[in-house]
Amino acid sequence: MLRTLQELEKTALDRLATTESEEELAQWRREVLGRGGELTAVLRSLGSLPADQRPVVGRRANELKRQLQAALDGKVEAARHVVRERGLDVTLPGRRPAAGRRHPITATRKRMQAAFGQMGFQVFEGPEVETDEYNFALLNMPAYHPARDSHDTFYTTRPDVLLRTHTSPGQIRVMRETGAPVRAVVPGMVYRYDQPDASHNWMFYQMEGFAIGPGIRLTDLLGAISGLARLLLGEQAQIRFRGHYFPFTEPSIETDMQCTVCGGSGCRLCKESGWVEVIPGGMIHPTVLRNGGIDPARHSGFAFGAGVDRIAALWYRIPDIRLLYDNDSRFLEQF
Ligand code: DAH
Repeated sequence: MLRTLQELEKTALDRLATTESEEELAQWRREVLGRGGELTAVLRSLGSLPADQRPVVGRRANELKRQLQAALDGKVEAARHVVRERGLDVTLPGRRPAAGRRHPITATRKRMQAAFGQMGFQVFEGPEVETDEYNFALLNMPAYHPARDSHDTFYTTRPDVLLRTHTSPGQIRVMRETGAPVRAVVPGMVYRYDQPDASHNWMFYQMEGFAIGPGIRLTDLLGAISGLARLLLGEQAQIRFRGHYFPFTEPSIETDMQCTVCGGSGCRLCKESGWVEVIPGGMIHPTVLRNGGIDPARHSGFAFGAGVDRIAALWYRIPDIRLLYDNDSRFLEQF
């Protein structure tokens, strides 16, 4: 039996040496290693051998199987290499690599950061997983505050740890880190219990911004927002301010921009009103300044929380912000 194996080895390897194409190699595999192959026949017949020969022949047969398989693998790899080499036609036009590009939200965020940069604002980042204290309590929203209702969010297994509902906790974090005076923006993703529609989503980007120093006034906020609108959307940008309420600012305002999707005549993005709410803000509440370690008798400040997705929608004339999260490359390639 060992003799048969030795012959088998020799003939198989000799034949393999002169086999080149992938088809011939496949045939060799079927005939030598395949189910109906010679080696398989030897392995099958082991049971009928005298007991003392079985282990020796078995071991040798299995070794041979591995050896032949390895020899075959080497030849197959070499054959593929030849095909690749022969197939290389340097005169063919190249394949265009699928180059990535900035997502419209990222591009908008960068543009906003650059605009605020021109106005002297630095960029900070805060964590997306926040504590109740930073997200609410320190921003003048204690546990009983009704304004929390619109800020229901995703909670973790710890009741005091949640996904931030806004970038405003960044105010406290930066105040505690730098003190006053300071001008900063804090961009990032936020999560909230919002019914999705053309201008709402349960996750979206915000950019918190604030300036704190002696004698900062509401008109400074209006100037900063107007400056941003002009830098981003050009001189023709139409904005309007109106009074609002937030627990962390007093007084508070809301900024609307004229809808660029419909030109102000009404569509889904602007809820048929012609205007889109984009930048809420106000004068930082003295309690919030104090919680950030800043003395409200010496410093005042304005703050805002710009909606990056909505600004992107207005810039690119995208009629529904949810499109920004579908990750459909046919949509994203347009920008
Ligand atoms: N944090 C608010 C929200 O997400 C937005 C906001 C309003 C931020 C007024 C501010 C502000 O900084 O002054 O609903």
